[in-house]
Amino acid sequence: MKRILLTITCAACLSAHGQKFDQLALTPQMGWNSWNKFADKVNEQLIRETADAMVASGMKDAGYQYVNIDDCWQGQRDAQGFIQPDAKKFPSGMKALADYVHSKGLKLGIYSDVGYKTCGGRPGSRGHEFQDALTYAQWGIDYLKYDWCNAEGLKAEGAYTTMRDALYAAGQPILFSMCEWGDNQPWLWAKNVGYSWRTTGDIFNCFDCVKDHGTYKDWGVLQILDKQEGLRKYAGPGHWNDPDMLEVGNGMAVNEDRAHFSMWCMLAAPLISGNDLRDMSKETREILANKEVIAVNQDALGVEGFKYSAKDGVEIWFKPLSNDAWAMCVLNRGTNSQPVAFNWKSETVSDDLSKREAKFDATTYSMRDLWTKKDIGTTKDALTAEVPGHDVLMLRLNKM
Ligand code: GLA
Repeated sequence: MKRILLTITCAACLSAHGQKFDQLALTPQMGWNSWNKFADKVNEQLIRETADAMVASGMKDAGYQYVNIDDCWQGQRDAQGFIQPDAKKFPSGMKALADYVHSKGLKLGIYSDVGYKTCGGRPGSRGHEFQDALTYAQWGIDYLKYDWCNAEGLKAEGAYTTMRDALYAAGQPILFSMCEWGDNQPWLWAKNVGYSWRTTGDIFNCFDCVKDHGTYKDWGVLQILDKQEGLRKYAGPGHWNDPDMLEVGNGMAVNEDRAHFSMWCMLAAPLISGNDLRDMSKETREILANKEVIAVNQDALGVEGFKYSAKDGVEIWFKPLSNDAWAMCVLNRGTNSQPVAFNWKSETVSDDLSKREAKFDATTYSMRDLWTKKDIGTTKDALTAEVPGHDVLMLRLNKM
């Protein structure tokens, strides 16, 4: 009887497309990751408290689900080669931690790397891919971020496919998040390998800057945004472009955090918060947990937004949504406030990718400001607004 039950359960949970579990990340994944705020300072208490805070702050209710441990959780491998967590940081072990996170109705994520060593110098998965995948599955892990440091001659497609196969063989649906920085154009080959792939190097906490480390660079929000050009056609349900994790709440101005979050929603990016959830300002929480803005990101159509126009540092983006709706985002890249005038009647927004068109002279849409949460009229009248520097005006247009 037990055996029959097991077979039935697994037939259902393993219903797969190719060698990848299906039914995962049909909309971009939402969660939290330790790296942007805590770097190597991760431990089980932080993860437990973050899970608690994800529930208490309303983040879970807004859709955030994954609590992800980034680099530097690893200890050594045992005599048989099984990876052990750092016993000082995770004395209760990963299984107990996964049980705790699951008891909150959330999921636990972990991190590894294609090389012998991770970026932080801890043991990577090279040569242990199947063993590690089995270990993660036994611990009850739900998400794996897989990094690209110390690749030493590995081919990206092969290295990521090996881990995909290992996760599949281990039998537990684990969301495989590829962190290869876009070096080998994963959008061209990873649709059936991962559920998301990083498109750039690391983000850093600045709206409009580049941080040059000599051999590599970290990128500000606008710099990462500009690097997404041409990639939208490769993303869709179950396979997303990942412009890196959020820096909301980590020190940018509130308007910059709002613009950053809005654009990641327009891009249908994974929404992985990277701040201290235990200690959030009201403004930070209101950005991260704005359900109407999140609905743009999580729209079932799963089509990325696109830049419709750009003039004097003001960009107008559109994202097709289900039920013939659209999201519109006016982004002011500059530091000075800018007037915006949009005369709907003389504009037609069309998108070859989703085969959608909005002819505003023929069809009227209602307009809702997603940040002030106010209905602001219809597209019968021209839109005039003032967008402060490094800020956005974000609207939802519903067909009337
Ligand atoms: C790389 C990744 C980051 C983070 C660090 C951890 O830089 O791109 O997101 O995981 O490694 O060392």
